[in-house]
Amino acid sequence: MGDLEGFRYSGLIERYRDRLPVDKDSKIISLSEGDTPLIRLDNLMGEIGHDIQLYAKFEGANPTGSFKDRGMTMAVTQAANEGAQAIICASTGNTSASAAAYAARAGIKAFVIIPEGKIALGKLAQAMIQGAIVLQIEGNFDDGMQIVKDIADVAPVKIVNSVNPYRLQGQKTASFEIIDALGRAPDYHALPVGNAGNISAYWAGFCEYAAKQPVQEYRRAGESEPFAYKFAPVVDSVPVICGYQAELANPFVQREMIVEPETIATAIRIGRPQSWEFAWAAHDESGGWFDSLSDHEILQAQALLAEREGLFCEPASAISVGGILRDIRRGKIADGSVITATLTGHGLKDPDTAIQQCKTSPLSVSANVDSVKRAILDNL
Ligand code: F0G
Repeated sequence: MGDLEGFRYSGLIERYRDRLPVDKDSKIISLSEGDTPLIRLDNLMGEIGHDIQLYAKFEGANPTGSFKDRGMTMAVTQAANEGAQAIICASTGNTSASAAAYAARAGIKAFVIIPEGKIALGKLAQAMIQGAIVLQIEGNFDDGMQIVKDIADVAPVKIVNSVNPYRLQGQKTASFEIIDALGRAPDYHALPVGNAGNISAYWAGFCEYAAKQPVQEYRRAGESEPFAYKFAPVVDSVPVICGYQAELANPFVQREMIVEPETIATAIRIGRPQSWEFAWAAHDESGGWFDSLSDHEILQAQALLAEREGLFCEPASAISVGGILRDIRRGKIADGSVITATLTGHGLKDPDTAIQQCKTSPLSVSANVDSVKRAILDNL
């Protein structure tokens, strides 16, 4: 039986194929990732009382619950079409969940290196049930990353961390979607920064849609011109990029690598980011800034998004909105601005942290109408 004919979104490679380095004949490994909602946060902005539009790009709506799927469809498509038998990554959790899913889809093996005891349980569950071989180390993400970079020379595995250029190519499509949805570029874009792949990818995407020079160049097989130069501008401006880090895991704010990063936002517990130069380019060229938030501020932002906007994201994701709201309050952002902020991963990945910070617990009531009625009237 052939494919049905109705419209079915089938992933970001199909949607943005002419802007991605994918060979015509490649078999695409996709889970219909991308096309995530851009949600206007009017409740939060109403409370702040500025004439500013703030939108959240909710990447938790990707198939494995984080933005990593954008890069992984590209990296695994490339690896599988090159005939790789196995992929490998170091991860604070989300990359491992995504790598496991796309490897399963491609019918190849995934090896994932994680810091023991320092990844959210939901992410571990995803990697395990999707058949990845999970290698936990007594060390942090940065130690795992070093091993992954060394192992590729001595074992038949393809790296799918964001040092793999196909990852950033996939992730840049989030910027395209934002501009396609708004009909213009935002004035500011806020996002969390860990290994710094995503900030680099967003900047590449924004620049490409404005037809400025891309951060990275790629050539399709057999073509001598970098493919990204071929396009007419879609918009005429790029946003200021605002990157936020956790207070004790903030190498970009310190302007130097950190040996023992620590934060409750385990996804961004990273001290030696791989995309250091690309991220500084995004900062310098966009006229942007890096800043850090305490764990307390991160959790406050997570709760605020959940309570006021019904958006449940993981702590690392909330840092983008927490950071930009603080900068709005500090007067760093002009009235009339349009801001987008990436919520990188779903809150369900880390229910433990969420439950621990809830001020209420479930009320035990008797199983009858009277008790429930009393509970309603007491709590209206
Ligand atoms: N937000 C979430 C939820 C993440 O999982 C990550 C990175 C980031 C933000 C930071 O993005 O590294 O591109 O600067 N997680 C990686 C992982 C490191 O292994 O899942 P970045």
